[in-house]
Amino acid sequence: MALSKEENDMLTQVGPGKPAGELLRRYWQPIGFANELQGKPKKKRILGEDVVLFKDEFGKFGVLALRCMHRGTSLEFGHIESGGLRCCYHGWLFNVDGKVLETPGEGAESTFKDRVRQPSYKVQELGGVLFVYLGPEPAPLLPRYDVLARQDGQRAMRARIVNCNYFQMIENSVDQNHLKWLHRGITTPTWEDGEINPQIFEHGVLNTYTRRVAGKNWAHVNFFVMPTINKTGNVEEGHPTEHRASSSCEVMRWRVPIDDTSTIHYTVEFANVVEGKPTAKLMKDRAAEGVQDTVFGKYRWDDETGWLAREDQDRAAQESQGVIFDRTAEHLVTTDKGVILLRKIYKDGIEAIKQGRDPLGVVRDPAKNELIRLEPREEMLD
Ligand code: FES
Ligand SMILES: [Fe+2]
Repeated sequence: MALSKEENDMLTQVGPGKPAGELLRRYWQPIGFANELQGKPKKKRILGEDVVLFKDEFGKFGVLALRCMHRGTSLEFGHIESGGLRCCYHGWLFNVDGKVLETPGEGAESTFKDRVRQPSYKVQELGGVLFVYLGPEPAPLLPRYDVLARQDGQRAMRARIVNCNYFQMIENSVDQNHLKWLHRGITTPTWEDGEINPQIFEHGVLNTYTRRVAGKNWAHVNFFVMPTINKTGNVEEGHPTEHRASSSCEVMRWRVPIDDTSTIHYTVEFANVVEGKPTAKLMKDRAAEGVQDTVFGKYRWDDETGWLAREDQDRAAQESQGVIFDRTAEHLVTTDKGVILLRKIYKDGIEAIKQGRDPLGVVRDPAKNELIRLEPREEMLD
């Protein structure tokens, strides 16, 4: 049941006008961290489009098309001043909405600036992450997922580049079988073959992976959230079902296409704080550094285990599938149920857009968006 070349293109091409590109544009996407700008604008590339991200003197964030509408100089070299972002070349001044505030030298009576606009996109901040919306109006709500919206704990976040197409990265999230093999640890060889049971739910795919570990039946429950997110966590060190992809804090990961051949992997960890102490260990927060670079084919090694280092295991598996995995040559089996279901919900989402409907997981009801709680867990079944 390999895909045809046309189906593979449909799922992997992210630019404007492409089926998956249009689907991805129906959701808010991370574009950076609130504390990474440090007084300067930054060039960003997202879904094949070049933009500039900046924070004005009033603390408002803006995302504008990268090239100045006057004569095309990159706004990443602009100055934050006079209530907006001023192009370095001839001083045109833009506000966060793309309104042209000044066209120096055109005379005070000129109305030209009132008749043109720099293309702009909506931005919102939640939990220290900046989200942009590149799709058609009306924009949906920015989903208030627990790791971003909760106030009763601590967060740590970072972002890094993975040098391949986003779709093979999100297939990893619904592929429970890889936990036992790619993230093998001391206890995983004792896991008996289990049952993988992905189900569609309101926001994406609810993954349940049941297996026998140490003579007991366990269910590992986590979430894939449309369009590129997963939510895992809550398996403590020393737990009988421990594997090297687990963590005791709750984690959300977004895979945001830069273009068809590279992706930014955003990770946000959350641990609630009880009596002044975080209940789980968080990674080092690296938000202020912005996006970390990585090199295709180069992975860290863990001498202690004699195996790929934990933080590069998924990247090694995903990048070595090829920059854009050619699914015409694959051989799917029963443990790939989740992958098959993910491709189906993408195809259904593309179809929904053609029919004028929202795809799965788009949030528009404020009553359902106070806090979107997704609770990953490891449950003993008997
Ligand atoms: S190119 Fe930006 S002001 Fe001229
Ligand atoms: Fe993994």
